[in-house]
Amino acid sequence: MSRVLRVTLAVLTALGLLVLASSYFVSQTLNEWFERDLAGRADLALAGARDKLVEDWSGTSTTRMTALLTALTHDERLVAAAACSRAGSLLAATTEWPAEVSCNTIARHVRPAAGAPASEWTTWRSGVQMEGGPAHLSAMPLIDRGTPLGFVLLLHDFGFAERREARIQQLLVGTFAVLAGAASLLTIVIRRASWHGWTNEIRRMLRGDVHRPEFQPLMGDVRELIDRISVERDLDGTGGAWTPQRLKDSLRRYLLGERIVVLANREPYIHERQADGSVAVKHPASGLVTALEPVMRACSGVWVAHGSGSADRESVDAQDRIAVPPGEDDYVLRRIWLTPQEEQGYYYGFANEGLWPLCHIADTRPVFRSGDWDTYRDVNERFADAACQEMDADDAIVLVQDYHFALAPRLIRERKPRATIITFWHIPWPNFERLGICPFTEQILHGLLGSSILGFHTQFHCNNFFDSVDRFLEARIDREFDAVIYGGVRTLIRPYPISIDWPNRWALATPSVDQCRRELFAELDLPADTLLGVGVDRLDYTKGIEERLLAVERLLQRFPQYRGRLVFVQLAAPSRSTIPEYRALRDRLDVVVKRVNDEFGSGSYQPIVLRRSHHEPPLVFRYLKAAHFVYVSSLHDGMNLVAKEFVAARDDEQGVLVLSSFTGASRELAESLIVNPYDLDEASDALAAALAMPEAEQRVRMHAMRTFVAEFNVYRWAGRMLRDAERLRRRERLAGRFEGRAGDLPGLEA
Ligand code: ADP
Ligand code: F6P
Repeated sequence: MSRVLRVTLAVLTALGLLVLASSYFVSQTLNEWFERDLAGRADLALAGARDKLVEDWSGTSTTRMTALLTALTHDERLVAAAACSRAGSLLAATTEWPAEVSCNTIARHVRPAAGAPASEWTTWRSGVQMEGGPAHLSAMPLIDRGTPLGFVLLLHDFGFAERREARIQQLLVGTFAVLAGAASLLTIVIRRASWHGWTNEIRRMLRGDVHRPEFQPLMGDVRELIDRISVERDLDGTGGAWTPQRLKDSLRRYLLGERIVVLANREPYIHERQADGSVAVKHPASGLVTALEPVMRACSGVWVAHGSGSADRESVDAQDRIAVPPGEDDYVLRRIWLTPQEEQGYYYGFANEGLWPLCHIADTRPVFRSGDWDTYRDVNERFADAACQEMDADDAIVLVQDYHFALAPRLIRERKPRATIITFWHIPWPNFERLGICPFTEQILHGLLGSSILGFHTQFHCNNFFDSVDRFLEARIDREFDAVIYGGVRTLIRPYPISIDWPNRWALATPSVDQCRRELFAELDLPADTLLGVGVDRLDYTKGIEERLLAVERLLQRFPQYRGRLVFVQLAAPSRSTIPEYRALRDRLDVVVKRVNDEFGSGSYQPIVLRRSHHEPPLVFRYLKAAHFVYVSSLHDGMNLVAKEFVAARDDEQGVLVLSSFTGASRELAESLIVNPYDLDEASDALAAALAMPEAEQRVRMHAMRTFVAEFNVYRWAGRMLRDAERLRRRERLAGRFEGRAGDLPGLEA
């Protein structure tokens, strides 16, 4: 909230309280006045009629007395009158006298005891609530030469008082509202004027226009303060688009240029020996790498990863390090070597047969083996040790990535208690019932809660995490500040939706749509009027590739006009292929492709082209650019960056994205055609809609998505996490100064 808004709100609240207090006092005072006024009127009325009443009191004519009482009620506010005997029985009353007000009940207020002398008789007055509204009752003794005769009751309408009071209150509130408006306006104007005056003065002093010696020692502090404020504004996203330079500047100025250590299983560059003996450098198919690599280029530091390429060992130095990207040397890649047994137990076993299916709802049963768990724990120790070796300070920043390293945050925390550990979980976090399937749930939660910050793609995954902690650990959940306090240490749990670099370096290097189509159509031997659909994924059962091909089949069944014209190319990078589920998927896909091509293909026309191989990013982007539509059909996915890459590729603002509602990206790319990939009718309808969509509509949708991804790019993702890390550090320092613990400071990260 802006400062001006806060000041205005404070003024308005103060005035609001003032209105309440004033209206209470006004109400009290008015009531007193009105009651006094009515009492005076009653006295006057009785004084005027007194003699006649005394005369008639002992007479026998009730009619005369009633007439006298009726005459009294000619006063506009006197609604009824009655005469009561000393014993408390009714002698006469006007017709309006309410039956529920009896002489007998009121008698005890006028004469304290039966037979009490005249000196003890008193006038009694009270407000009463009648059917028609509030009224005021006066009971006045009638005493003749020292002898009490009885008493007269006069009932006044008090509703007028209420009406008047309401009117006065309205006027009061109106007056205060006008005053409040004027006061707020005045506050804003004064504040602005004084702020401008103050900042101008400071600026003049900093420029040296004002040479006041008494201020000179303060100048250094002021400069530093201004610097901090400007960085804070930057990190709050108010300083324009996030770029590599901005991220770099923020890191340098805000976190004092700390060198970042990334811990991730997958390495950003893989050296592979080729058949001809040469070594090729490959970019792995990995959303994690796609997102983090540009961040590391901007920030520099060290990326600790498994060296999995066939020529990786021969490419590193004696410390297993190599500067990357090749030829640019922006940061260091430190490779860790795993034995085949370690890779089997830790990567294929626990991570990809256990945690991967556990966290994804894709109908594949997780498998947990205690041997895999032991290896997973050992490998986490090895990576944690390596990460600690790479830190250049005790309080360095470590970015721990994904489900391969659930134990590493705690292990690093034990070795480097002052480190800032930011863990990001790239895949969904399951609900606690599903998580409970894992026999090592508590150890995993314990490991992750060694982090300073634990990030997920969506708030939904954060909520699942909170529920899991609630269920399995003795920990305090601070939902107000999105944190878990466990063992006295606070971990912030936050959503940080991941993204891609923008401007995207691969998209910028890709030729025009026409050129991409021309070249690819020639390579694939397709006629120029072909309608091209594209899918790009690792060959993974969570990606819904089978459902995607079935949707294409359904499309061709239901919309015959696309037979012979539509070609769907699926790029499927081999992934985790030693795991039976992945091999089974590969076989199932072959069956579907064959069936669809047999049924709808003819001559050289094949409606589905399945490319089961890795493609380097320039080729992937050529496909994305040539496509008329891209279908991302994941059955469950943390984010899915292919969807964002398609948007980045389409600088012509054409092409339609058909997107599964089970991806994190569907929360952000609302202008895509969002479908349930299991519902083949719905999905094929969406594919048909994509093929028939007018250019103007494509432009509007694509433009909106491009604007979003440009704004919410991966530099912002990293910047937000680093900002939160910096705030955390600052407050931890504060907590340290007061010898408290960060976890004990309420609202630490607000
Ligand atoms: P995940 O991280 O689960 O693989 P994402 O969609 O988030 O899924 O990211 C996948 C990344 O891998 C993207 O950058 C995409 O371009 C790349 N990729 C996917 N399939 C292939 C492929 N067949 N060949 C090369 N790169 C691929
Ligand atoms: O994005 C999820 C993820 O599992 C990453 O951790 C990983 O790098 C990527 O998908 C690809 O998987 P892998 O590294 O096992 O090939």
